[in-house]
Amino acid sequence: QWTTSSILDEQVTRIREQIGDGKAICGLSGGVDSAVAAALVQRAIGDRLTCVFVDHGLLRSGERAQVERDYVAATGIRLVTVDARERFLGALAGVTDPEEKRKIIGREFIRVFEQAERDLKAEGDYKFLVQGTLYPDVVESGGGAGTANIKSHHNVGGLPDDLQFELVEPLRALFKDEVRRVGTELGLPETIVQRQPFPGPGLGIRIIGEVTQDRLDTLRQADAIAREELTLAGLDRQIWQCPVVLLADVRSVGVQGDGRTYGHPIVLRPVSSEDAMTADWTRLPYEVLERISTRITNEVAEVNRVVLDVTSKPPGTIEWE
Ligand code: XMP
Repeated sequence: QWTTSSILDEQVTRIREQIGDGKAICGLSGGVDSAVAAALVQRAIGDRLTCVFVDHGLLRSGERAQVERDYVAATGIRLVTVDARERFLGALAGVTDPEEKRKIIGREFIRVFEQAERDLKAEGDYKFLVQGTLYPDVVESGGGAGTANIKSHHNVGGLPDDLQFELVEPLRALFKDEVRRVGTELGLPETIVQRQPFPGPGLGIRIIGEVTQDRLDTLRQADAIAREELTLAGLDRQIWQCPVVLLADVRSVGVQGDGRTYGHPIVLRPVSSEDAMTADWTRLPYEVLERISTRITNEVAEVNRVVLDVTSKPPGTIEWE
């Protein structure tokens, strides 16, 4: 029987064996998985770990500040922030295919980590790259026995072929609930451990169509409103996550103020799940849906319609891309 502390002890031992007296870089996304992976590696190798937070411009509102402030306060971890917004946006220009987006984002993450490694060279060799890859990420990227590639998770199928780092993936055999328990055992605060999942490719895979700065701004505003209202309604622990998606290439006619509009729809995708391998759409209270819809259409320019995704997984995946 696996207990949380036996998982933790075994992983710490394995990490020490793998890294020896070497140094490691860990990409922090602000999410649970990388936060727990980093804390585990910190437990194993102490300050020979440096975390890198990549601001790729595909983040939600407030995310960068949360990592820079809360995570560092909780762990005392050494954090380097890289502003890579132009780099990612440039690489994604003109791209609409979901798998292509995922591969570009996966590749650009690695390129930023390689640059960070060069910048840290004076301190020694950072040969290892820590990732918070979970078991479901491996399975859905086609890495599990007998599984098809459903989508290339940015940290698995999205990695470039010429990867220079040796990967350290202490959560590769675990599901999210186990990761959360390990995080709690490591002393991470609730605000980090209970965070809803958010994919590494961020808002880049929640804009259906080309990713542009204007579209990101639109989606970020709509997402912030939905999250705020769900939190106010006390629903955060009830839903697994609620992707907010911008259908950037779809327009519909609306009437706002005293005129005709021709704007974009926002999709709300609230789901309930145990491990993200399957999911059901969450029956949110109508009053909450109404508040979100009214606020988004009033407050976000370019959006004149809010629609609700009522599809389970399968047949739909949780994210739209
Ligand atoms: P899907 O859309 O495959 O999502 O049903 C399952 C879970 O995984 C998250 N997700 C990702 N997380 N990198 C990540 O770190 C990715 O590339 C990625 N793609 C999907 C998604 O938010 C959901 O929780």
